[in-house]
Amino acid sequence: MTDFVLTETNNQVLTVRINRPERKNALTHAMYTALGDALEKADSDADIRCVLFTGSEECFTAGNDLSDFASGLTGAFTETPVGRFLLLLAKARKPVVAAVNGPAVGIGTTMLLHCDMVFSGTNTRFQMPFASLGLCPEGGSSLLLPTWIGRVRAAELLMLGDTFSSEDAYRLGLINRVCDPADTEQTAIQVCQRLASQPPAAIRATKKLLSSPTHDELAATMLAEGELFSERLKSPEAAEAFGAFMQKRKPDFSSFK
Ligand code: COA
Repeated sequence: MTDFVLTETNNQVLTVRINRPERKNALTHAMYTALGDALEKADSDADIRCVLFTGSEECFTAGNDLSDFASGLTGAFTETPVGRFLLLLAKARKPVVAAVNGPAVGIGTTMLLHCDMVFSGTNTRFQMPFASLGLCPEGGSSLLLPTWIGRVRAAELLMLGDTFSSEDAYRLGLINRVCDPADTEQTAIQVCQRLASQPPAAIRATKKLLSSPTHDELAATMLAEGELFSERLKSPEAAEAFGAFMQKRKPDFSSFK
């Protein structure tokens, strides 16, 4: 159980709110479990027709909790809370929408690649700093990102790990609309309510067809990424990156081969 993920159902829309402001909504194992539980509930509950992921007006999520990262991932990737959450998200049958403001780091960006629609504030800063942290892409991003935006632009975002804005994300086709941060959530809720009022089986069929070009490769890619990611978490490069973050200094990778 965690109080850092709040869920609420209104008009057949399940809102899943990441709520850990003192740690910039960084995600712990317990929080991934709660996010996965919410997706399972949405799948099995006929009264839920759409899922909305959101954070606050200031922050979506700073990604994985770096202290949890440092303690590593044990067991098969599919059995880990993050692996279970990502796989449930990838195979969700009902529409998933995200309302994003402020930092959307790491999985905070890669989870959006699985969403059907994304609304994002002018204050959003997307980032996938996996390589900069000594890690590798996760959540299917090494397949989905080049498929959506092209290989060279995916390489730039995944290898350099720079932040990018909502305007950049809109230009790349990664989000639907750039919003005033005060309006992002309400804009997304209105769209969720429209989705919930559509014929549900037709919406599920449309989602399935939209996912089909990457469907066969996605699960295998996510598993391969997950295995490599677990190995990279134990690497000296990752130890240097996490240590530098905790000590509030720049990492030094100059001595690594
Ligand atoms: N894991 C654990 N703690 C985190 C965190 C994370 N991913 N992100 C932020 N925090 C903590 C900070 O350590 C800080 O704690 P402190 O108050 O005890 O010093 C607190 O949350 C506030 O963060 P801060 O860095 O001061 O906020 P900011 O507004 O200046 O910057 C971010 C926000 C998200 C840009 C910055 O915190 C960041 O880069 N976080 C790391 C993101 C990351 O690498 N995630 C993993 C991706 S794979």
